Parts: sequence; structure tokens; C-alpha cells
Amino acid sequence: MVTENAEIDIDIEGMGEDGARSIAGASSTDALAAVETELLGKRSALTRAHRALGRLQPDARKEAGRRLNEVRAALEAKVASRRAELDHSERADALKADRLDLTEVIPSAVLSAPARGHLHLVTQARAELEDVFVGMGFTVAEGPEAESDWYNFEALNMPPAHPARGMYDTLYLDVGEPETVLLRTHTSPVQIHLMEEAVANNTLPIHAVMPGKCFRQDTPDARHLPVFTQIEGLVIDRDITFGDLAGTIQVFTEAYFGAGMQSRLRPAYFPFTEPSAELEITCTICLGEGCRTCSHTGWIELGGCGMVDPAVFAALGIDSAVWSGFAFGFGIDRLAQMRHAVPDMRSFLENDIRFLSQF
Ligand code: DAH
Repeated sequence: MVTENAEIDIDIEGMGEDGARSIAGASSTDALAAVETELLGKRSALTRAHRALGRLQPDARKEAGRRLNEVRAALEAKVASRRAELDHSERADALKADRLDLTEVIPSAVLSAPARGHLHLVTQARAELEDVFVGMGFTVAEGPEAESDWYNFEALNMPPAHPARGMYDTLYLDVGEPETVLLRTHTSPVQIHLMEEAVANNTLPIHAVMPGKCFRQDTPDARHLPVFTQIEGLVIDRDITFGDLAGTIQVFTEAYFGAGMQSRLRPAYFPFTEPSAELEITCTICLGEGCRTCSHTGWIELGGCGMVDPAVFAALGIDSAVWSGFAFGFGIDRLAQMRHAVPDMRSFLENDIRFLSQF
């Protein structure tokens, strides 16, 4: 009995140490499950030793049973903590293996290419309008942005101190006396350049549009910018009538806005045309109801137009008994604003990509 007791003693110590070693050496949860069965399962040495306890003296049985239970509890705890360890590292390995490295599937050229931009809405509108007019047989001309008083005002029948100059909040450039140089307040001075050229080269008639930037000392608001873009038109030929003007406006507004847009020509005054009119369309923000953008009128002015005043022809030496003509000047920013129903024109200059990228 003593011998048997001693044998069981040795087994218990050995089982604890060997078991601990096998558990630490299990390199996967599967391997650990096998080790667990081997150490703690029904056929394990530990379970068999438990069964053998009956063969011992009551005192020795009690002591051996206590130690066997201790060893079992210790091995169970070791299995649990090793399992937690292996679970963690296996999960990390699986995540690493499953990770999709997008830099491998997207060519580096695509990743590093800068986002492609596009033309500003106003530039697009200008190009579209030029296309429409070229399609109608007009040529496209440009003139300087810094002008003399003569081109911007005098030749357009606005002599010094003419009250109509008050409509144009003019920005003057300081170039020293006696010259007066200013930033053009409208594209109408380009009309004068074209007429001068045509007279000098004897190339009348003229059918031209003249797009470009204009400048006024204006406080920006929902439909005004101090730097804005106009497209001027000038037709000088024989027997030109107001009907030609109205028809031209009809064609270009329908080409730009599509059919069904409501417009009206309102009698107006400009020193360089007689008669003169303003082109207005139903405000596209409120559809005529009245809103902040149209100052609660329901209408938006796109620009002015009229029959070239004989005084302008006279200043340039064009015989108004032979030649007649019409002219117009429309705000390109306004046209674009109305076509896309942009409530506030200042959005055009704020450089907010979220706004600009819509067009
Ligand atoms: N230049 C005018 C302005 O900016 C608009 C205008 C009116 C242009 C009548 C014209 C015209 O050619 O005939 O206020």
C-alpha cells in the first residue's frame, strides 16, 4: 500500500509538470484541444488516477484526492489562459490575411493623379453663347479692359457731365493728366472699336458679338458683382429694323434657356440707342412669385438693347441714311445664374468646390 501510495504521489507531480509543458507547447487551438483531451479527458492519466484512489487507505486517499484536484484545477486554468492567447493571435492572423490592400489593385497612377477640374460656369456660358451667335453668322471680337473716356462714354453719346454717366459707377485708373483711363463699365466701347476699324478699312456691314469682363464700383449682392461679364452685340447693315433685334434675341434666348422661357422687352433709355429696351425674363428662382434675388419683382433684367443712335454713327462718320443697326449688351453671369437658378451670384466667386463642381 505504501508503495502504491508513493507511486500515485510521483504521478501527480509528474502529471502537473508534464501537463503544463504540453499546454505551453500547443501552437494552435486545435493542438490545444488535443492536449486538453489527453490531459483531462476520460482516458487521461489524471482521470485514471482519480479512479485508482479507491485502492488507497482513507487518509492517503483524501490527501491524494486533494492534490489530484489541485493539479486538475491548475491544468484547467492553464488550458483556458493558453486558449485565450491562441484565440487572440489566430484572430489577428486571420484579419491580417483577409485585409485587402487597395494600393495593390488601384494603379498608383490613379491614386496620385490630381482631380480633374473644369471650366468655370461663367466661362462655359460665354463659350456656349459665342457658339450660338457664330451659328447665326456673327463673328466674335474682343476689346481692351482699360479704356479711354472717349470709347467708354463720349463716342457712345455720353459727353462729359452727361447724366447717364451716373448709371456707371466707374473705376478710374490714375495715369496722370490729361488722359482719362478707366476700367470699362460695359462692353459697349468694343462697338466703337469695331465701327472705327470697319470705316477705316471700308468693311461694313458688321455682325459681331463682343464678350468680356466689365468693372463697376458696385457692392456685391444677389445679382451684382463688381467684376462681371457681358456679351455685346452689334449688327450694322442696310435696312436693319427693331424686328431683326427682337428676332435675334428670341433665337439666342431660346438656344440658351430652351423654349418656353418667359421674356419681355421693356422700353428703356440708353444714350447710344434709340429706341432702347431692357430684356427681362421671369425670375427662375421664384418663377415670378417674387423673391430676394429679383427684389420681389418676379423679373430679372438680363441687359439692354436698341437701335444704334444716329449720334453714334455721326461720331464715327457712318452715313445713317445708308446704314442702320441694332446693338445689345447682356450679362453673362446673369444668364448663367438664371439658367441654373443660382439664388446668389456671389457663389460664382467664392471658390467653393461643392458649388462649382455641380456645373
Ligand atoms: N452697355 C449697357 C449697360 O451695360 C447695356 C446696353 C444697352 C448695351 C443698350 C447695348 C445697348 O449695346 O444697345 O448698361
